[in-house]
Amino acid sequence: MSKLDVTQLFGVKGLVAVVTGAGSGLGKAMAHALDINGAAKVFILGRRESKLKEVAAEAKNGSLIPVVCDITSKDSLQAAASKIQATTPFLNLVVANSAIVGEVTSMAPRPAEQGLDELRKELWDKTPFEDASQVLSTNIAGSYFTFLAFASLLGAGNTHPDSIGKSGLLQSQFVNVTSTVGLSRAESPSFIYVASKAALNHLMKTLSSEFSKHTIRANAIAPGLFYTEMTEGYIPENFGTVGALPWQDIPARRTGGQEDIAGAVLYLASRAGSFLNGCILLVDGGMLSVRPGSY
Ligand SMILES: NC(=O)c1ccc[n+]([C@@H]2O[C@H](COP(=O)([O-])OP(=O)(O)OC[C@H]3O[C@@H](n4cnc5c(N)ncnc54)[C@H](OP(=O)(O)O)[C@@H]3O)[C@@H](O)[C@H]2O)c1
Repeated sequence: MSKLDVTQLFGVKGLVAVVTGAGSGLGKAMAHALDINGAAKVFILGRRESKLKEVAAEAKNGSLIPVVCDITSKDSLQAAASKIQATTPFLNLVVANSAIVGEVTSMAPRPAEQGLDELRKELWDKTPFEDASQVLSTNIAGSYFTFLAFASLLGAGNTHPDSIGKSGLLQSQFVNVTSTVGLSRAESPSFIYVASKAALNHLMKTLSSEFSKHTIRANAIAPGLFYTEMTEGYIPENFGTVGALPWQDIPARRTGGQEDIAGAVLYLASRAGSFLNGCILLVDGGMLSVRPGSY
């Protein structure tokens, strides 16, 4: 078979991975994409065991293994890593996808006539300090410690005789699911969430620099708008239909679907994306291109 055949180029046969937040939304879609396309084992992490079990039960090739884990606790992350290490001596890929959005005041643009005092009151009253801290610690520190919890297993993914990474072509990789909002200066429904995603885009670059000498790559997937548990309170599901949105909102004229996020993770995880390191992969239907103040 040609090296350029899609199953060779984008397949993930034999891959061993961790995906956090895989009991729902984008994490669930990425876990299924890895399972369907040949992954040997995908450990799916999250706090709700029932959701993880549901996702594992739906797996076409049965490679999804639930592991209950709270990424805001180093003890919980260490326990998950020890449990996983008892099953596999190496990992090729860790996708830190878990995050929370916290209190969102409104997804709709603020009225132009809103006064300063009104804006300040909206932002001050709606968000307790603890809520802001929880968003920052879950999203930033949670992703950071997720990477560190599994760094040694990722290192072993480059050398273990049973690993698909042993040839040196497919270096182990840490992927963080960030967001296009972390790359935009446009007005924000949640300044704290957006700041956390900007921090994560930067974290991937600095981790990529430090850990390159240990043969571990770090990349980000920055999604645009998708209908998931996180956004279902703000956008209707039918925004996923082509034509549901004007190009001025999202040039693709729709929100993202599971194929869009699945394609991104397969690209990064497979031979096709193995030359990427320190990259932020936008999966946003062009949204960032039409957002004012994007950089
Ligand atoms: N949907 C969008 O439009 C969009 C856009 C840009 C970026 N994103 C990013 O995409 C990622 C996935 O979000 P989603 O849209 O798929 O929303 P989601 O369905 O709410 O998924 C978030 C996942 O994170 C898990 N999680 C939250 N806190 C956790 C913790 N302390 N420990 C372990 N797991 C935790 C949740 O599982 P448990 O509650 O069971 O723990 C849940 O499965 C997030 O990083 C989000 O910021 C989403």
